Amino acid sequence: MSLHVETNLAHIQDFATQADEHGASHFPIYNTGTFDLKKQSGDRVYDYTRSGNPTREVLENLFTKVENGAGCVCTHTGIAAVGLLFETVLSAGSHVLVEADCYGGTFRLLKIFKEKYNVTVHFKNFLHLDELEDILANNRIDLILCESPTNPGLKIIDLEKIGELSKKYNSLFAVDNSLATFISQKPLDMGADFSLFSTTKYISGHGSVIAGAIVSKTKKLAQQIGFYANAHGRSQNPMDVFLISLGIPTLKIRMREHEKNAILLAKFLQNQSFIKKVTFPALKSHAQYELAKKQMDFIPGLFCADFISINLAEQFIEKTKIFGEKCSFGSPDSRVEIPAKISHATFSKAELEAIGISETTVRFSVGLENIEDLIDDIKQAVNV
Ligand SMILES: Cc1ncc(COP(=O)(O)O)c(C=O)c1O
Repeated sequence: MSLHVETNLAHIQDFATQADEHGASHFPIYNTGTFDLKKQSGDRVYDYTRSGNPTREVLENLFTKVENGAGCVCTHTGIAAVGLLFETVLSAGSHVLVEADCYGGTFRLLKIFKEKYNVTVHFKNFLHLDELEDILANNRIDLILCESPTNPGLKIIDLEKIGELSKKYNSLFAVDNSLATFISQKPLDMGADFSLFSTTKYISGHGSVIAGAIVSKTKKLAQQIGFYANAHGRSQNPMDVFLISLGIPTLKIRMREHEKNAILLAKFLQNQSFIKKVTFPALKSHAQYELAKKQMDFIPGLFCADFISINLAEQFIEKTKIFGEKCSFGSPDSRVEIPAKISHATFSKAELEAIGISETTVRFSVGLENIEDLIDDIKQAVNV
């Protein structure tokens, strides 16, 4: 029987490779470094937790299922999943085609690969498909990488179209699915070879853990990722798997609430004289609104608002009592940050301008609080 994603998430314990002999309703945490080879029964042989661990396998089996993949590796951070992808598919002299609006940590990692391993990185706007095709036709591109929605520019990338291009030019295609998550969007069904994500964000949803995962479309790619994960020591520890598992069953209802609150807040801000522009794919004013609705079941509760001045943006952040000035997103508490100062501080002014971000842009990660409290807090912070 084919089950819906939320049913699988609610029954996370069923994804253990071997059923628990006591019928525990939550899977056990094997917080061990090693396993005694002589004392194991069955086909599965665990020897060392870096290479394999039954607790981590629960999450890896679940993510493989809900992303419609062939295998998964859970990593100790989200950026480790990005790093593991690069370590697996890139070599010295490789070419990568990347959406210019990408997470600051991914951007920094690509610069390192460029400087240390002579990797050529083509940063491009993935809305301009003709330009992408031109690059693909004139270079041997090993890897295409994007997020959708992008962060912080919140563009929606047509994943099916990029998937088609990747097949035409025989390039691997990876999607960072941290924002939408597998409850909303399935990159592997739209032509991607990898779906990777930071589980630090919406997937765990409580903000008390840092972790990530990468799901591969084919067994062959999954084996390659698994080999490098073991070689580079990228795998996640079992206690973190447990913490993530506590948030997983509620992912769908949280995403729905994040979306609902964010729409109400974005609409409120849109009508305020201290705001120049709100960029949010859930609003009809967004250029890719239709594609966003088609590609995702829920639009993640993350948007950007451009204030009329730097002073006012800073005053708001200083005086707000509910919105923490924190990077990251997907937690129950609402957060704000100025990307140019925090999450995307590695971008130059020109690079930020190219993705539509200025010094007055504030990124909102809308939490699960009561919407009236959020609006009242903004009013008192900007004195309206
Ligand atoms: C889109 C995206 N991908 C990857 C990461 C990295 O994840 P982590 O912070 O868990 O290492 C982040 C972190 O903010 C992110 O926003």
